[in-house]
Amino acid sequence: MKRFLRLALLLSLSAASFAAVASAAETAAQRDARMQWWREARFGMFVHWGLYSGLAGTWDGKPVATKGGMEWIQQRVKADTGVYAQRAIPLFKPTPGFAREWAQLAKAAGCRYLVFTTKHHDGFALHDSAVSDYDAGSVLHRDLVKEIVAAARAEGLKIGFYHSVIDWHHDQYAYAKSKQLPHPLRGQPYPNGERNHAQYLDYLHAEVKELVSNYGQVDVLWWDYSAQDFQGDEAWRATDLMNLVRTKQPAVLMNNRLFRTPEAGWKGMGTEGYAPQLDPQYGDFITPEQHIPATGMPGIDWETCMTLNTTWGFSEHDHAWKSDETLIRNLIDIASKGGNYLLNIGPKGDGSVPAESVKSLQAIGAWMKTNGAAIYGTTASPFAQLEWGRVTRKGQTLYLHVFNWPANGQLLVPLQNQTGRVTLLAAPGTVISATAGPDGVRLQLPASAPDAIATVLALQITGEPRPVGK
Ligand code: GLC
Repeated sequence: MKRFLRLALLLSLSAASFAAVASAAETAAQRDARMQWWREARFGMFVHWGLYSGLAGTWDGKPVATKGGMEWIQQRVKADTGVYAQRAIPLFKPTPGFAREWAQLAKAAGCRYLVFTTKHHDGFALHDSAVSDYDAGSVLHRDLVKEIVAAARAEGLKIGFYHSVIDWHHDQYAYAKSKQLPHPLRGQPYPNGERNHAQYLDYLHAEVKELVSNYGQVDVLWWDYSAQDFQGDEAWRATDLMNLVRTKQPAVLMNNRLFRTPEAGWKGMGTEGYAPQLDPQYGDFITPEQHIPATGMPGIDWETCMTLNTTWGFSEHDHAWKSDETLIRNLIDIASKGGNYLLNIGPKGDGSVPAESVKSLQAIGAWMKTNGAAIYGTTASPFAQLEWGRVTRKGQTLYLHVFNWPANGQLLVPLQNQTGRVTLLAAPGTVISATAGPDGVRLQLPASAPDAIATVLALQITGEPRPVGK
């Protein structure tokens, strides 16, 4: 059965490429409309989950590491796909309904979208693929993508597919073409003789076509990733791939990781080096990994992705959990710079979410319940860094996120504007007086901070914000 479907899919692929609509034809207004929900969302959940999750960072009974991405375990231990699959498959046992826990947790945390790994570098696809036997359909007789999508939709979340173009399973993936991309056999000759990368690309495109055809609306396609020495059209037939996705999903947003050039927002191979520019033909947003750009990227859509500890995929050995304070302040810091926060969970092999992650996300959710208005739909701060905290803006409202509560109760906002009402989001009844002076507006706050992590004040202003000294 699968074989017939495989052939039919491959044949229909080229037709899709011809029917493609290029994003270049899109006007700025159309692009803004497409980006709108994402720009307003500000906060999403990332999920790394696959065969590696059951291995949990352990190989031969020993920890592979206590830090770093354990979704890379196959590469870390240099296992070929047969050995890896043999050990990992028995440990990958999703319980029925596992995805509801993710979706409900994302919702409770205040996330507006959920991006999950449909296939990571190990090559194991979570859907029921007609072109692969290395997929949840063949191995578990389940379509996990379908289950996750249904659960996310039930909670009203937008849906994003992470998809790895790197593939450590496919026997025609020509890993020798890159010295920079990871592969368990990197540097070694192909075990099966010469490889025909074009065959891998047919397969890659066919799997992606299934994903964008069979699961309803896909809001984000989150590609991962390219190298300077292997990227774009040469490596992935990237333009065709993006057009294939757009043909099926005209409203989709895609990241920039099918490329690794300055025009696509990259400076080098590191995850820190970004060029603050992005030609829309290479994607819709830039993806700083594990860090927050110091000054944001004015005019560019960007999303910081980050782990709760130090690994994307579950590891039983990684205990370096970030504090609630760090996570909440990161979200605020990112919003104040005009970006999105995509915060990762790494569920276990049974699909359950580590207790530490649940706790952290619930803490963020509690803060968001009171202060979400100061995050959703906001734009970047009109100020350079302020020593007491951060600022976000929604029209004539400035949200002051106070990290360091002033000892004398006076908060100086270096603003020349006329100001109106000031309210405390945590206690809207509290009266806060504002006095204008040459160095800005002074607010008289209650003696102690209602929220030790971040207390938010909403300050109404007249006209465009005019910081002191500008
Ligand atoms: C990387 C890693 C990967 C992770 C991703 C998330 O490039 O290879 O394991 O999925 O970043 O941004």
